[in-house]
Amino acid sequence: MAKSTLNPLSTVFFLSLLIGRINSQSFSRNLSQKQLGLKKEKLSHLHFYFHDIVSGKNPTAVRVPSAAMTDSSPTGFGAVVMMDDPLTLKPELGSKQVGRAQGIYASAALDEVGFLMVLNFAFTEGKYNGSTLSVLGRNTVLSPVREMPVVGGSGLFRFARGYAHAKTVWLNFTTGDATVEYNVYVFHY
Ligand SMILES: *[C@@H]1O[C@H](CO)[C@@H](O)[C@H](O)[C@H]1NC(C)=O
Ligand SMILES: *[C@@H]1O[C@H](CO)[C@@H](O)[C@H](O)[C@H]1NC(C)=O
Ligand SMILES: *[C@@H]1O[C@H](CO)[C@@H](O)[C@H](O)[C@H]1NC(C)=O
Repeated sequence: MAKSTLNPLSTVFFLSLLIGRINSQSFSRNLSQKQLGLKKEKLSHLHFYFHDIVSGKNPTAVRVPSAAMTDSSPTGFGAVVMMDDPLTLKPELGSKQVGRAQGIYASAALDEVGFLMVLNFAFTEGKYNGSTLSVLGRNTVLSPVREMPVVGGSGLFRFARGYAHAKTVWLNFTTGDATVEYNVYVFHY
């Protein structure tokens, strides 16, 4: 009968060495910015108009079933709205589309109209086609200008950080439809 020539203790020792190596190599390593193809950090300014269409036959923002208190709350507290809103070059909805704002806004303030915004700007224009910026912020929609942090991005906007200024340029108080001008400032590579 053939007998193993390996000492069981040394086998365990080598196995644990091997596993230790694999773990430390696959979990993390130091990398230079050049190795990842990152050159100089840039600062970009993006300007576009956001159309929140809640009325009519083809809304781009729809309310998700909400809390029992939402309709009696003066600020609509608890309302959650899912949007896929067009972003255009000019204030007119029919002007050239540069992307979509996809995400959620939710009424998160009891005493004023204040939304929690969680959304991605998904761009479709020129070199930005396919790149996204992620926004996570507070939007008191009745204030003249609101500032929301840009917390990240993808594609050309990898490692993005910055902020977005939102200014309502048109609002129909009857329907709730609105056009908002956005100025976005982001650092990225
Ligand atoms: C990575 O860089 C840090 C800081 O320079 C250093 O302390 C660490 O030993 C490096 N790790 C590896 C695996 O090279
Ligand atoms: C954006 O990219 C998509 C997918 O690659 C492509 O189908 C579309 O035509 C592009 N749009 C523009 C405006 O370049
Ligand atoms: C607001 O929407 C209502 C209903 O569609 C419409 O009758 C009204 O003219 C609109 N107001 C403005 C200022 O566009």
